[in-house]
Amino acid sequence: MKEIEKKEIIDSLRSSKATLPVKLLYDNLGGKLFDAITETEEYTPTKDELAVFSENLEKIKAILPNSICLIDLGAGSCFKAEKVLPVLNPSCYLAVDLPSEFFMNSVQRLSSIFPEKNILSLEIDFTEGLTNDLIDTTISKAGTNLAKTIFFPGSTIGNFSPVAASKFLSSFDNDFLIIGIDLLKTSSELEKAYDDALGVTAAFNKNVLLNLNRQVGTNFDVTRWSHKAIFNSEKSRIEMHLVAKEEQIIESPYGEISFSAEKSIHTENSYKYTVESFSKLLSDVGYIDISKFVHPNNSYAVFVAKRNRQF
Ligand code: AVJ
Repeated sequence: MKEIEKKEIIDSLRSSKATLPVKLLYDNLGGKLFDAITETEEYTPTKDELAVFSENLEKIKAILPNSICLIDLGAGSCFKAEKVLPVLNPSCYLAVDLPSEFFMNSVQRLSSIFPEKNILSLEIDFTEGLTNDLIDTTISKAGTNLAKTIFFPGSTIGNFSPVAASKFLSSFDNDFLIIGIDLLKTSSELEKAYDDALGVTAAFNKNVLLNLNRQVGTNFDVTRWSHKAIFNSEKSRIEMHLVAKEEQIIESPYGEISFSAEKSIHTENSYKYTVESFSKLLSDVGYIDISKFVHPNNSYAVFVAKRNRQF
């Protein structure tokens, strides 16, 4: 991590609204704990999304042009790619994720499952803006005139504020978009999904402090912090916080940081939409022909939309 980034983190921890960059949650152990979250009874988005895809993949295929390049943002384990590739049958598949051995191994594994498919990868932090040039150069190896189709499953867009999400979704020069969105539910359902009875989400959240200790050189003791998930209805988002159980002083390479009891560190936001509110977000940034595939429980939706080039 760059010195300036470390310094920013420490400054934020000292401020009255302490927040941490979301990506700090996803170190090696964080990635595994997130996978475990998706298997808890309370956290439904991953299971519901799979159900929506199993039920509608043929219909989604029918909407898209024949020759597409599928650009998978946050491909991770490439588990979803494995499900969709046989049906969507893209002329090229580009996996995009942060650099890690785990990610490289996943792409390798996918290539061995589909040896006849054109599988490419890009190790970048796409949340800092997608570099269209880099994507174009990478996929130009696969052929020309492919409809660029952004595949953004998992409701990952929920980590962005609606304004940032709009900017993000209009920043690349894609032709189509396939995106998964966790839908608004009651606050009690949402709070349980982000505070499961087994404590997997609590472990996922607290692990950020261990990652900070490693990457920034702090000395947080996770046993002195508790996990809190609250639904902010005004902003339509679930917030994850770490709350200090007692007053404490943390050492860092940039000096001490003091926390009073009950002081909270805001670690993640997960915005929730209705089918209507997300359709509006898409049309407001220039998407047209918006199709929605909604889970029968009204819990999750996959949107497929076309980019209006005249917008
Ligand atoms: C991976 C960002 C989609 O917001 O639901 C799950 C992350 N955090 N439980 C989400 C998460 C706590 C997840 N996303």
